Amino acid sequence: MSVQQDPERPQATVNVRLMVLVGVVVAALGIAAGLTIHWFPPSASKQAGPIDTLWKVLLIASIPVFVLVETVVVFSVWKFRMRPGEELLDGPPIHGNTRLEIVWTAIPAILLVGLCTYAFLVLEDIEKAPAAQEMNVRVVGQQFAWTFYYTQNGKEYAAPQLHLPVNVPVRFTIQSKDVLHDFWVPAFRVKKDAVPGINVNYRVTPTRQGTYPIVCAELCGLGHSVMRGDATVETRAAFDKFMTGLRSGANNAAGGQPAGGGGGGGTANGKAIFTSSTTNCASCHTLSDAGATGTIGPDLDKALKGKSQQFIHTSIVDPNAFVAKGYPANVMPPTFGKTLQPAQIDALVKYLSDVTKGG
Ligand code: CUA
Repeated sequence: MSVQQDPERPQATVNVRLMVLVGVVVAALGIAAGLTIHWFPPSASKQAGPIDTLWKVLLIASIPVFVLVETVVVFSVWKFRMRPGEELLDGPPIHGNTRLEIVWTAIPAILLVGLCTYAFLVLEDIEKAPAAQEMNVRVVGQQFAWTFYYTQNGKEYAAPQLHLPVNVPVRFTIQSKDVLHDFWVPAFRVKKDAVPGINVNYRVTPTRQGTYPIVCAELCGLGHSVMRGDATVETRAAFDKFMTGLRSGANNAAGGQPAGGGGGGGTANGKAIFTSSTTNCASCHTLSDAGATGTIGPDLDKALKGKSQQFIHTSIVDPNAFVAKGYPANVMPPTFGKTLQPAQIDALVKYLSDVTKGG
Protein backbone atom coordinates (compact mmCIF):
# COMPACT_ATOMS: atom_id res chain seq x y z
CA MET A 1 0.00 0.00 0.00
CA SER A 2 2.75 2.45 0.90
CA VAL A 3 4.24 4.15 -2.11
CA GLN A 4 7.60 4.86 -0.59
CA GLN A 5 10.08 2.03 -0.41
CA ASP A 6 10.37 0.45 2.95
CA PRO A 7 13.69 -1.25 3.47
CA GLU A 8 12.96 -1.45 7.20
CA ARG A 9 11.48 -4.84 7.84
CA PRO A 10 8.93 -5.17 10.67
CA GLN A 11 10.30 -5.45 14.15
CA ALA A 12 10.62 -9.05 15.17
CA THR A 13 9.45 -8.96 18.81
CA VAL A 14 6.28 -6.97 18.19
CA ASN A 15 5.30 -9.22 15.31
CA VAL A 16 5.90 -12.42 17.21
CA ARG A 17 3.71 -11.17 20.07
CA LEU A 18 0.95 -10.22 17.66
CA MET A 19 1.23 -13.58 15.89
CA VAL A 20 1.08 -15.51 19.13
CA LEU A 21 -2.01 -13.56 20.18
CA VAL A 22 -3.77 -14.12 16.86
CA GLY A 23 -2.68 -17.77 16.89
CA VAL A 24 -3.99 -18.46 20.41
CA VAL A 25 -7.35 -16.82 19.70
CA VAL A 26 -7.84 -18.61 16.38
CA ALA A 27 -6.71 -21.96 17.82
CA ALA A 28 -9.13 -21.61 20.75
CA LEU A 29 -11.98 -20.80 18.37
CA GLY A 30 -10.97 -23.70 16.13
CA ILE A 31 -10.90 -26.19 19.00
CA ALA A 32 -14.25 -24.95 20.29
CA ALA A 33 -15.77 -25.32 16.82
CA GLY A 34 -14.13 -28.73 16.32
CA LEU A 35 -15.52 -30.08 19.58
CA THR A 36 -18.99 -28.66 18.94
CA ILE A 37 -19.44 -30.43 15.60
CA HIS A 38 -21.00 -33.89 15.77
CA TRP A 39 -18.59 -35.74 13.51
CA PHE A 40 -19.98 -39.23 13.99
CA PRO A 41 -23.33 -40.99 14.08
CA PRO A 42 -24.56 -42.08 17.55
CA SER A 43 -22.23 -44.67 19.00
CA ALA A 44 -23.50 -48.19 19.53
CA SER A 45 -20.47 -50.18 20.63
CA LYS A 46 -18.05 -50.40 23.51
CA GLN A 47 -15.21 -49.65 21.09
CA ALA A 48 -16.77 -46.36 20.02
CA GLY A 49 -15.97 -44.62 23.32
CA PRO A 50 -12.14 -44.79 23.21
CA ILE A 51 -12.17 -44.15 19.44
CA ASP A 52 -14.24 -40.97 19.80
CA THR A 53 -12.01 -39.77 22.63
CA LEU A 54 -8.92 -40.42 20.50
CA TRP A 55 -10.49 -38.38 17.73
CA LYS A 56 -11.10 -35.46 20.09
CA VAL A 57 -7.55 -35.56 21.44
CA LEU A 58 -6.14 -35.59 17.88
CA LEU A 59 -8.38 -32.66 17.03
CA ILE A 60 -7.21 -30.65 20.04
CA ALA A 61 -3.57 -31.43 19.22
CA SER A 62 -3.72 -30.72 15.52
CA ILE A 63 -5.73 -27.49 15.40
CA PRO A 64 -3.00 -25.38 17.14
CA VAL A 65 -0.38 -26.89 14.78
CA PHE A 66 -2.52 -26.01 11.77
CA VAL A 67 -3.15 -22.50 13.09
CA LEU A 68 0.56 -21.97 13.88
CA VAL A 69 1.64 -22.97 10.38
CA GLU A 70 -1.09 -20.96 8.65
CA THR A 71 -0.50 -17.86 10.79
CA VAL A 72 3.19 -17.83 9.92
CA VAL A 73 2.45 -18.43 6.22
CA VAL A 74 -0.24 -15.75 5.95
CA PHE A 75 1.76 -13.27 8.02
CA SER A 76 4.90 -13.82 5.95
CA VAL A 77 3.07 -13.48 2.66
CA TRP A 78 1.58 -10.22 3.85
CA LYS A 79 4.56 -8.64 5.63
CA PHE A 80 7.42 -9.85 3.46
CA ARG A 81 5.76 -9.55 0.08
CA MET A 82 7.69 -7.99 -2.76
CA ARG A 83 7.22 -4.25 -3.06
CA PRO A 84 7.64 -2.14 -6.20
CA GLY A 85 11.33 -1.71 -6.92
CA GLU A 86 12.30 -4.97 -5.22
CA GLU A 87 11.82 -7.12 -8.30
CA LEU A 88 15.50 -7.86 -8.68
CA LEU A 89 16.39 -8.10 -5.02
CA ASP A 90 17.31 -11.50 -3.73
CA GLY A 91 16.64 -10.86 -0.06
CA PRO A 92 19.20 -11.22 2.69
CA PRO A 93 21.19 -14.47 2.83
CA ILE A 94 19.94 -16.60 5.70
CA HIS A 95 22.06 -18.88 7.79
CA GLY A 96 20.75 -21.80 9.72
CA ASN A 97 19.64 -21.23 13.29
CA THR A 98 20.64 -24.32 15.19
CA ARG A 99 18.58 -23.61 18.28
CA LEU A 100 15.43 -22.97 16.23
CA GLU A 101 15.98 -26.11 14.18
CA ILE A 102 16.39 -28.28 17.26
CA VAL A 103 13.21 -26.85 18.73
CA TRP A 104 11.11 -27.32 15.63
CA THR A 105 12.34 -30.86 15.18
CA ALA A 106 12.01 -31.91 18.82
CA ILE A 107 8.52 -30.57 19.51
CA PRO A 108 6.81 -32.27 16.54
CA ALA A 109 8.76 -35.47 17.26
CA ILE A 110 7.57 -35.54 20.87
CA LEU A 111 4.02 -34.73 19.78
CA LEU A 112 4.01 -37.47 17.13
CA VAL A 113 5.52 -40.16 19.34
CA GLY A 114 3.07 -39.26 22.11
CA LEU A 115 0.01 -39.39 19.85
CA CYS A 116 1.16 -42.60 18.15
CA THR A 117 1.66 -44.26 21.53
CA TYR A 118 -1.78 -43.17 22.66
CA ALA A 119 -3.37 -44.38 19.39
CA PHE A 120 -1.56 -47.71 19.73
CA LEU A 121 -2.86 -48.13 23.29
CA VAL A 122 -6.40 -47.44 22.09
CA LEU A 123 -5.97 -50.03 19.34
CA GLU A 124 -4.71 -52.58 21.87
CA ASP A 125 -7.66 -51.79 24.10
CA ILE A 126 -10.36 -52.20 21.43
CA GLU A 127 -8.81 -55.38 20.02
CA LYS A 128 -8.44 -57.09 23.40
CA ALA A 129 -10.15 -60.46 23.71
CA PRO A 130 -13.12 -60.07 26.04
CA ALA A 131 -13.37 -62.02 29.26
CA ALA A 132 -16.88 -63.11 28.38
CA GLN A 133 -17.64 -65.75 25.78
CA GLU A 134 -17.65 -64.10 22.37
CA MET A 135 -19.84 -64.83 19.42
CA ASN A 136 -18.38 -65.52 15.98
CA VAL A 137 -19.96 -64.21 12.81
CA ARG A 138 -18.50 -64.82 9.38
CA VAL A 139 -19.06 -61.86 7.07
CA VAL A 140 -18.75 -62.50 3.35
CA GLY A 141 -18.60 -59.64 0.88
CA GLN A 142 -19.46 -60.18 -2.73
CA GLN A 143 -20.42 -57.80 -5.51
CA PHE A 144 -22.73 -56.27 -4.24
CA ALA A 145 -24.09 -57.78 -1.08
CA TRP A 146 -23.07 -58.91 2.36
CA THR A 147 -23.95 -62.34 3.74
CA PHE A 148 -23.65 -63.21 7.42
CA TYR A 149 -22.97 -66.75 8.62
CA TYR A 150 -23.88 -67.89 12.10
CA THR A 151 -22.65 -71.17 13.48
CA GLN A 152 -24.77 -73.22 15.83
CA ASN A 153 -24.13 -76.82 16.83
CA GLY A 154 -21.53 -77.14 14.10
CA LYS A 155 -23.84 -75.96 11.35
CA GLU A 156 -23.64 -72.68 9.50
CA TYR A 157 -26.68 -70.58 8.69
CA ALA A 158 -26.65 -67.73 6.17
CA ALA A 159 -28.53 -64.51 6.73
CA PRO A 160 -28.72 -61.44 4.51
CA GLN A 161 -28.79 -59.05 7.46
CA LEU A 162 -26.74 -58.78 10.60
CA HIS A 163 -28.43 -59.44 13.93
CA LEU A 164 -26.51 -59.15 17.18
CA PRO A 165 -27.54 -59.55 20.81
CA VAL A 166 -26.85 -56.42 22.84
CA ASN A 167 -23.80 -56.46 25.17
CA VAL A 168 -22.45 -59.72 23.76
CA PRO A 169 -18.92 -59.42 22.35
CA VAL A 170 -18.72 -60.50 18.72
CA ARG A 171 -15.72 -61.38 16.59
CA PHE A 172 -16.18 -60.95 12.87
CA THR A 173 -14.26 -63.00 10.35
CA ILE A 174 -14.40 -60.95 7.19
CA GLN A 175 -13.95 -62.53 3.79
CA SER A 176 -14.48 -61.62 0.16
CA LYS A 177 -15.50 -63.81 -2.75
CA ASP A 178 -14.30 -61.49 -5.49
CA VAL A 179 -12.73 -58.06 -5.04
CA LEU A 180 -11.81 -55.77 -2.14
CA HIS A 181 -14.75 -54.66 0.00
CA ASP A 182 -14.77 -53.04 3.41
CA PHE A 183 -17.10 -54.05 6.20
CA TRP A 184 -18.13 -50.99 8.16
CA VAL A 185 -20.91 -50.24 10.62
CA PRO A 186 -20.30 -46.54 11.32
CA ALA A 187 -22.18 -46.72 14.63
CA PHE A 188 -19.62 -49.35 15.79
CA ARG A 189 -16.74 -47.17 14.43
CA VAL A 190 -14.43 -50.08 13.52
CA LYS A 191 -13.89 -51.03 9.88
CA LYS A 192 -11.62 -53.32 7.96
CA ASP A 193 -11.14 -54.41 4.35
CA ALA A 194 -12.49 -57.72 3.10
CA VAL A 195 -9.63 -59.19 1.07
CA PRO A 196 -10.06 -62.21 -1.22
CA GLY A 197 -8.18 -65.22 0.13
CA ILE A 198 -7.56 -63.74 3.57
CA ASN A 199 -9.49 -63.88 6.84
CA VAL A 200 -9.64 -60.46 8.45
CA ASN A 201 -10.94 -60.08 11.99
CA TYR A 202 -12.22 -57.45 14.29
CA ARG A 203 -14.14 -57.30 17.52
CA VAL A 204 -17.10 -55.26 18.56
CA THR A 205 -19.38 -55.28 21.57
CA PRO A 206 -22.70 -53.71 20.61
CA THR A 207 -24.03 -51.68 23.51
CA ARG A 208 -27.17 -50.05 22.20
CA GLN A 209 -30.28 -51.59 20.71
CA GLY A 210 -31.35 -50.30 17.35
CA THR A 211 -30.81 -50.72 13.64
CA TYR A 212 -27.65 -49.27 12.14
CA PRO A 213 -26.51 -49.02 8.53
CA ILE A 214 -23.82 -51.33 7.20
CA VAL A 215 -21.69 -49.70 4.54
CA CYS A 216 -19.17 -51.04 2.06
CA ALA A 217 -16.29 -48.60 2.43
CA GLU A 218 -14.08 -49.76 -0.44
CA LEU A 219 -14.88 -48.88 -4.05
CA CYS A 220 -15.70 -52.31 -5.45
CA GLY A 221 -17.50 -51.76 -8.73
CA LEU A 222 -20.68 -50.36 -10.24
CA GLY A 223 -22.92 -51.39 -7.37
CA HIS A 224 -20.59 -50.21 -4.58
CA SER A 225 -22.99 -47.47 -3.47
CA VAL A 226 -25.84 -49.94 -2.97
CA MET A 227 -23.75 -52.54 -1.13
CA ARG A 228 -25.46 -51.72 2.12
CA GLY A 229 -27.34 -53.51 4.81
CA ASP A 230 -28.70 -53.26 8.31
CA ALA A 231 -27.14 -54.29 11.59
CA THR A 232 -29.82 -54.90 14.20
CA VAL A 233 -28.75 -54.90 17.82
CA GLU A 234 -31.48 -56.49 19.91
CA THR A 235 -32.26 -58.22 23.17
CA ARG A 236 -31.03 -61.74 23.74
CA ALA A 237 -34.60 -63.03 23.42
CA ALA A 238 -35.14 -61.29 20.10
CA PHE A 239 -31.81 -62.59 18.83
CA ASP A 240 -32.67 -66.15 19.89
CA LYS A 241 -35.93 -65.82 18.00
CA PHE A 242 -34.00 -64.67 14.94
CA MET A 243 -31.67 -67.68 15.24
CA THR A 244 -34.58 -70.08 15.68
CA GLY A 245 -36.11 -68.66 12.52
CA LEU A 246 -32.81 -68.98 10.69
CA ARG A 247 -32.40 -72.60 11.78
CA SER A 248 -35.90 -73.61 10.87
CA GLY A 249 -35.47 -72.02 7.46
CA ALA A 250 -38.60 -70.02 8.02
CA ASN A 251 -36.65 -66.90 8.78
CA ASN A 252 -38.05 -63.76 7.39
CA ALA A 253 -35.12 -62.89 5.20
CA ALA A 254 -36.88 -59.85 3.85
CA GLY A 255 -35.82 -57.73 6.76
CA GLY A 256 -38.85 -57.86 8.96
CA GLN A 257 -39.92 -54.25 8.92
CA PRO A 258 -41.88 -53.93 5.69
CA ALA A 259 -42.58 -57.60 5.05
CA GLY A 260 -43.65 -58.38 8.59
CA GLY A 261 -44.67 -61.87 9.57
CA GLY A 262 -41.22 -63.14 10.50
CA GLY A 263 -40.80 -66.60 11.85
CA GLY A 264 -44.05 -67.96 10.56
CA GLY A 265 -42.88 -68.34 7.01
CA GLY A 266 -46.45 -68.00 5.83
CA THR A 267 -47.48 -65.96 2.85
CA ALA A 268 -44.63 -63.77 1.76
CA ASN A 269 -45.42 -60.40 0.29
CA GLY A 270 -43.62 -59.95 -3.03
CA LYS A 271 -43.87 -56.19 -3.09
CA ALA A 272 -42.57 -55.88 0.47
CA ILE A 273 -39.63 -58.12 -0.40
CA PHE A 274 -38.91 -56.00 -3.47
CA THR A 275 -38.85 -52.76 -1.51
CA SER A 276 -37.19 -54.05 1.67
CA SER A 277 -33.72 -52.90 2.65
CA THR A 278 -32.62 -56.54 2.65
CA THR A 279 -32.97 -57.11 -1.05
CA ASN A 280 -32.47 -53.48 -2.04
CA CYS A 281 -34.10 -54.29 -5.41
CA ALA A 282 -35.62 -50.82 -5.56
CA SER A 283 -32.29 -49.02 -5.31
CA CYS A 284 -31.09 -50.52 -8.61
CA HIS A 285 -34.27 -51.18 -10.59
CA THR A 286 -37.15 -49.12 -11.84
CA LEU A 287 -40.56 -50.66 -11.16
CA SER A 288 -43.53 -48.31 -11.30
CA ASP A 289 -45.81 -50.46 -9.13
CA ALA A 290 -43.31 -50.28 -6.27
CA GLY A 291 -42.46 -46.62 -6.86
CA ALA A 292 -38.87 -47.69 -7.57
CA THR A 293 -36.71 -45.52 -9.83
CA GLY A 294 -33.27 -47.15 -9.71
CA THR A 295 -31.20 -47.02 -12.89
CA ILE A 296 -28.21 -49.24 -12.11
CA GLY A 297 -30.01 -52.34 -13.36
CA PRO A 298 -32.59 -52.82 -16.12
CA ASP A 299 -35.97 -51.07 -15.95
CA LEU A 300 -38.16 -54.00 -14.89
CA ASP A 301 -41.34 -52.44 -16.30
CA LYS A 302 -39.76 -52.97 -19.70
CA ALA A 303 -37.30 -55.82 -19.18
CA LEU A 304 -39.82 -58.25 -17.67
CA LYS A 305 -42.75 -57.46 -19.92
CA GLY A 306 -44.06 -60.65 -21.47
CA LYS A 307 -41.42 -62.77 -19.76
CA SER A 308 -42.25 -66.08 -18.12
CA GLN A 309 -42.13 -66.68 -14.37
CA GLN A 310 -39.34 -69.15 -15.07
CA PHE A 311 -37.30 -66.37 -16.71
CA ILE A 312 -37.89 -64.06 -13.75
CA HIS A 313 -36.98 -66.81 -11.26
CA THR A 314 -33.72 -67.59 -13.03
CA SER A 315 -32.88 -63.89 -13.30
CA ILE A 316 -33.14 -63.56 -9.53
CA VAL A 317 -31.20 -66.63 -8.43
CA ASP A 318 -28.70 -66.63 -11.31
CA PRO A 319 -28.41 -63.01 -12.46
CA ASN A 320 -25.77 -63.74 -15.06
CA ALA A 321 -27.93 -66.26 -16.92
CA PHE A 322 -29.55 -63.55 -19.03
CA VAL A 323 -27.83 -60.19 -18.80
CA ALA A 324 -29.95 -57.42 -20.29
CA LYS A 325 -28.49 -55.60 -23.28
CA GLY A 326 -26.55 -52.51 -22.28
CA TYR A 327 -25.92 -53.75 -18.73
CA PRO A 328 -22.70 -55.37 -17.53
CA ALA A 329 -22.66 -58.82 -15.96
CA ASN A 330 -21.72 -59.44 -12.31
CA VAL A 331 -23.45 -56.37 -10.96
CA MET A 332 -26.52 -57.95 -9.37
CA PRO A 333 -25.72 -59.94 -6.22
CA PRO A 334 -25.84 -63.66 -7.00
CA THR A 335 -26.76 -64.42 -3.40
CA PHE A 336 -30.54 -64.11 -3.44
CA GLY A 337 -31.01 -67.83 -4.05
CA LYS A 338 -29.31 -68.40 -0.73
CA THR A 339 -30.47 -65.49 1.41
CA LEU A 340 -34.14 -65.56 0.45
CA GLN A 341 -36.37 -68.48 1.31
CA PRO A 342 -37.92 -70.39 -1.64
CA ALA A 343 -41.36 -69.10 -0.64
CA GLN A 344 -40.07 -65.56 -0.70
CA ILE A 345 -38.51 -65.98 -4.12
CA ASP A 346 -41.76 -67.46 -5.41
CA ALA A 347 -43.69 -64.52 -3.99
CA LEU A 348 -41.26 -62.07 -5.54
CA VAL A 349 -41.45 -63.83 -8.92
CA LYS A 350 -45.24 -63.85 -8.84
CA TYR A 351 -45.36 -60.18 -7.87
CA LEU A 352 -42.92 -59.14 -10.60
CA SER A 353 -44.76 -61.25 -13.15
CA ASP A 354 -48.14 -59.78 -12.14
CA VAL A 355 -47.13 -56.12 -12.19
CA THR A 356 -45.21 -56.27 -15.45
CA LYS A 357 -47.85 -58.15 -17.38
CA GLY A 358 -50.26 -55.33 -18.11
CA GLY A 359 -49.71 -52.23 -20.15
CU1 CUA B 1 -18.26 -53.67 -1.85
CU2 CUA B 1 -17.86 -51.35 -2.19
